Amino acid sequence: MASSYAATYAQWKGDPSGFWSEAAAGIDWSVAPSVAFDGTRGVYGHWFPDGETNACYNCVDRHVEAGRGEQAALIYDSPVTGQVASFTYRDVLAEVQAIAAVLMKLGVSRGDRVILYMPMVPEAVFSMLACARIGAVHSVVFGGFAANELATRIDDCRAKVVISASCGIEPGRVVAYKPLLDAAIEIASNKPDHCLILQRPELAASTVSGRDVDFTSEVGAAKAEGTVVPCVSLHATDPLYILYTSGTTGQPKGVLRDNGGYLVALAWSMKHFYGVEPGEVFWAASDIGWVVGHSYIVYGPLLIGGTTVLYEGKPVGTPDAGAYWRVIQEHGVRALFTAPTAFRAIRKEDPEGRLIADYDLSSLRALFLAGERADPDTLQWAERVLQVPVIDHWWQTETGWPMAGNPMGLGLLPVKHGSPTVPLPGYEIEVLDDAGHPVAPGTLGNIVVRLPLPPGCLPTFWNADERFHAACLAEFPGYYKTSDAGYIDEDGYVFIMSRTDDIINVAGHRLSTGAIEEVCACHPDVAECAVIGVADPVKGQVPAGFLVLNSGVSRESSTIEQEVVALVRERIGPVAAFKMAICVKRLPKTRSGKILRGTMQKIADREPWKMPATIDDPAILDEIAAVLAARHIGA
Ligand code: COA
Ligand code: AMP
Repeated sequence: MASSYAATYAQWKGDPSGFWSEAAAGIDWSVAPSVAFDGTRGVYGHWFPDGETNACYNCVDRHVEAGRGEQAALIYDSPVTGQVASFTYRDVLAEVQAIAAVLMKLGVSRGDRVILYMPMVPEAVFSMLACARIGAVHSVVFGGFAANELATRIDDCRAKVVISASCGIEPGRVVAYKPLLDAAIEIASNKPDHCLILQRPELAASTVSGRDVDFTSEVGAAKAEGTVVPCVSLHATDPLYILYTSGTTGQPKGVLRDNGGYLVALAWSMKHFYGVEPGEVFWAASDIGWVVGHSYIVYGPLLIGGTTVLYEGKPVGTPDAGAYWRVIQEHGVRALFTAPTAFRAIRKEDPEGRLIADYDLSSLRALFLAGERADPDTLQWAERVLQVPVIDHWWQTETGWPMAGNPMGLGLLPVKHGSPTVPLPGYEIEVLDDAGHPVAPGTLGNIVVRLPLPPGCLPTFWNADERFHAACLAEFPGYYKTSDAGYIDEDGYVFIMSRTDDIINVAGHRLSTGAIEEVCACHPDVAECAVIGVADPVKGQVPAGFLVLNSGVSRESSTIEQEVVALVRERIGPVAAFKMAICVKRLPKTRSGKILRGTMQKIADREPWKMPATIDDPAILDEIAAVLAARHIGA
């Protein structure tokens, strides 16, 4: 099929409002919007300002009404518990209404915030939809975060209720969630009124009388009563969810998502970007704690009447590197979306992809990769072993849906390995130098998007318009700063090379090295520290912390290193994958006292580096190189 990308992009650029008004017909409105965009409202404008809709209605009820009630909406596949279960749209409607009824009984109403700290179980998805149904704002916190991080989020959004489970299951270990939740509530100054706790058979959690409510019995009772909870008609601009993501400090940013614009953008992307039709099976092998999970495990596939797969397992070890192929075969997956790190993990275990021969993958039409840079080597390996298009696409928590990619639904463009291809309609992507001037094709610079951002992207941060403006809009007036660096070539292909801030990408998870530094610096023996991301063959990057100890500390440095590793795990969580703390005598700095993290990273990654002209003492870099070599880091 010839690509209709150029015509579609031109159509959008010629008349953005007309384009998105047309796309708005892809969802059901209780009050249809009379205008697409109002640039006078909000920080940079609001999409569909006078429209009213409901995300849960669009994802569930309307499909039952349209005759899809008996179609599978969600397939739960959990190799870690040995369960596979399928829920029809009618089943989902019943589950969601029952949870919504329980939330209302607990005092949750429109606009209240509900935190979800949940493993990958169907109840988590149903709970998200239940919040959406009654207009409550959900905020899902990834299970790999520690109590402290959870507490920060409970406080920031002032959660009224927390929905959690007794445990999550990681290969070889059961992760007790409830003690982490209890500790978080202890730390938080905003105490939620209630916690709705799903007791899993693998581990029972103790409960706090008066505060904790049993999920299964309460929801079961509401279901038995056949409680009907109508969908609340919400303003398109009302918040659907808050998703916290790493910023440049320990204080995470609450990315806000609205209802109307998000649904319109997701519906457009499912058809025109991912090329998925109603009734087809879409599998995003991510976690509901990340934006990929929000957009393409929960809302996107359900919005179009597709079937989504909720996978509680890993690409390897549950039980082997053939796990993904089994899921594709068993559920007839049409499109798989995951992070390149998953394919690096599979390739490491099964370099020739031999396990693929044991499965029938004929249903699979494409593999989509995002979340981190797709290194051409891994991408080409995936193309070779799967024999389907492998599509790298680029976006971030803030945007909620892809900014650049090869649009399967419009007909694929020629692939350039290492590039997520072209900007999608809605995004006018430019590359600017640090002074804000456009650079020539092929020249590295700051990647920015001309305002207004399209529907679906964040209108602001939760309760923090000024922080949003300062972090994302102020540096390059008229543009949204992505904080990614890269270039656009002569053919208009976008290349994303690195971040311009302190964010690193660890196994597709976004982490702030600044936040890890804040924790390292809390250790009483640490005088100062620097955390950098060093290259890792599977995870892409892993954090490494360099510690300078207070003078006079006589304890073994290896003991302190272990303590700092434990501290980061305790304060941020296992997701930080922080295993490398290294004591050094001094940190390399410029004469003005700035730590030369970039140069340290190049040394660690064995990349060519230049002695910075402003360095205070060049000998320190040799010391760092010697320490790294002695520990075989970056070898
Ligand atoms: N709850 C509790 N702990 C969790 C967790 C959760 N939901 N998810 C991960 N963790 C823990 C892991 O058990 C691990 O702990 P450990 O230090 O005791 O081993 C730690 O957090 C780091 O996890 P992870 O970075 O996922 O590493 P891993 O070695 O367990 O797995 C991959 C590596 C590549 C297999 C895994 O990251 C993966 O499947 N990635 C797929 C892509 C993906 O999900 N990307 C997200 C955005 S699209
Ligand atoms: P997150 O908000 O966790 O989705 O992380 C977003 C960041 O991940 C982006 O700003 C990029 O730095 C990186 N990223 C995501 N997808 C890609 C991609 N396809 N290529 C390169 N980097 C990517």
